[in-house]
Parts: sequence; C-alpha cells; structure tokens
Amino acid sequence: MQSIKNVKTKNPKVLPGADNPLKFGTIFTDHMFIMNYETGKGWFDPRIIPYQPLNLEPSAMVFHYGQEMFEGLKAYKTKSGKILLFRPNKNIERANKTNRRICIPEIPEDIFLQAIKAVVKADEAWIPTKEGTSLYIRPFIIATDPYLGVRPSDKYLFMIILSPVGAYYPEGLNPVKIWIEDEYVRAVKGGIGEAKVGANYVASLKSQVKAHDEGYSQVLWLDGVHRKYIEEVGAMNIFFKINGTVITPELNGSILPGVTRDSVLALCREWGLPTKECRISINEIYEAAQNGTLDEVWGTGTAAVVSPVGQLRWGEHIMQVKDGGIGPISQKLYDTITGIQLGEVNDTHNWTVEV
Ligand code: COI
Repeated sequence: MQSIKNVKTKNPKVLPGADNPLKFGTIFTDHMFIMNYETGKGWFDPRIIPYQPLNLEPSAMVFHYGQEMFEGLKAYKTKSGKILLFRPNKNIERANKTNRRICIPEIPEDIFLQAIKAVVKADEAWIPTKEGTSLYIRPFIIATDPYLGVRPSDKYLFMIILSPVGAYYPEGLNPVKIWIEDEYVRAVKGGIGEAKVGANYVASLKSQVKAHDEGYSQVLWLDGVHRKYIEEVGAMNIFFKINGTVITPELNGSILPGVTRDSVLALCREWGLPTKECRISINEIYEAAQNGTLDEVWGTGTAAVVSPVGQLRWGEHIMQVKDGGIGPISQKLYDTITGIQLGEVNDTHNWTVEV
C-alpha cells in the first residue's frame, strides 16, 4: 500500500494521571488515522494527523441517511513493554462484512491492520497500564458525498481514534442489572442487526433511557418477530449457565457476532463445559430462575470484556441470579481473557498480535 504519512502534533496534551478513572470514551489521544475514498480512485492518502475536528459539508450523506459503520478493539501494554492487540483480524473481517452490508467499499485487510498498528504506535505513551485499563481503538467510516438523493455515497472517510479507558460500566466487574425489553425491538433477520453500524445503537436509545430510569444498566433484546427469543444486550452478547450448560443465542442474522463471544465459547469448550449456541426463549430463562438452575449470567463485549449479570427484570418478574455476586465462570473468563490480552496467560490460540 501507499506508505502512511505521519504528521506529529505540535501541541501534545497532558497524559491522564495514574489515578484518573478513565471513564469510558471520554479522553482522546494526540493523533488519529485518516484515509479517503473516491469512486474511481479507491482508498487513498493514508495518514496520521493530530486529533482534530472534521471539516464536512452539511450535505454530507452520513448526516442524512446514516451510512456509517464502526468497530471496537483494544491495545494493551505488557509488563515487558510489548504492545498487544487482541484478535484484530476478527474485527477487520467483521468490518468488511459490515461494509458489504451497507454498500461501503471494503478496506484491504493488510492496510486496515497496518493503519491500526501505526496509530497505536504513534500514541503508545497513551496506553494505560493500571489494572482493568486499556487503549480502546475505534475505527469508523462515514459517507461524505455532498448529496441528498438516496444511494451509496461516492466518497468516504475511514478514521481511527484512540481512547484510554477503564471499565465500561461504572459497576466495574460487579454484576449489572438488566432490563428485558418487550415493547421495542432492535433488529430483525435480513436487517442490519449483525452489522456494526451506529443505526443499531440509535434504535436502542429509547429503551436504554427507560431502563436507566428504572435503575437498570442495559437492555436485553428479544427477537423482533415472536418477541420471545433472546438476542443480545445493548453493548454485549449474552451468556447463561443453566444446569451446568453454557448457553448463548445462535448467530441468526440479527445478532452481532462478537469477538469476545467467540473467545468465550472457545474457552468454555476447552475447559470441558457443555456449551450450546441455540434459540433460547425468555420463558426458559424465567423457568430456570424459578427452579434454581440459573447458575450464572454474563455479557461479553470488547468494551465490557466479561460483565456478570446479577438481576434480570422482565415485566413484573424480577429474576435474581443466584446470590447476585460474581459467578465463578464469569470470574475465570474475565481473568483468562484479560490475562491473555496482557500477555500474562499463555496465548495458546495465538489471539494476540504484537504492534
Ligand atoms: C464494543 O464493545 O467495542 C462496542 O462496540 C460496544 C460499544 C457500543 C461501546
């Protein structure tokens, strides 16, 4: 590929101090990656520039029809000073799948990875090292053609921004409370539920506000047709351990294929736990909670890693998960995954990639 130009900032910011809680997604580093696309020209002019506002026409298509996608992954610094990414190729593969779904031109995988590595390297001083922290990497693409007709754009910007982060939920690893949504739906098969696009998250806001008002952190979505089968949580995939078996909804076309979801399934299988990817209804979860076989519930995601769930609310039914504490499998998964990410647990799957 064309080599990546590198323009260093003349005004480096002050790095967050060691005691900064790094509230998720609030602090941004000194640099960003940016690359243009034009029909007939392809992707061109990859460059690292100081982090800065964008200059876009108000008619840019992204503002009107939402042709936008994003990804999320993390970089970690090991005790020996190595920089590790966790399964970046899975994110890159998924990004191009999203691109195909919403008619954005694909980005060659080698260029994508090179761009991530280059911008992380440029801002490596920003990778926090305190327990539970990392450098969140947010690649995204927007349609910039100044045009008000509905069609795929002829111009795009691909950018990568970086944010040093702590835990996604203020609860940290403490169990979160989840609201089961039975009024609104997030996605249906054939729609864009399995693509990583902003539109899926805007569809979730109304329910999220309702859930927050009731004291719940996140929303658990049911399927859009029967309003009965479990899909995913606002920013995570969801797992249940019922009577010894680890169960997660199968990838049915309306669920995001999470990278952490895939890693958790691989680890549970390796540990000899019976696992099932299948259609599971909210009634089955309710029954398990009633008869005492709902052993554990946890969510998985890049931002959240593994997040234990202590309580679920479905209409008037409140389901307490065991004693409401962190379950042993959730804890083991969190420790193993973060251990691999930090180079402290043997990476037998070759999941980490050095920058
Ligand atoms: C991630 O886990 O990286 C996500 O993309 C969820 C995000 C909406 C915070």
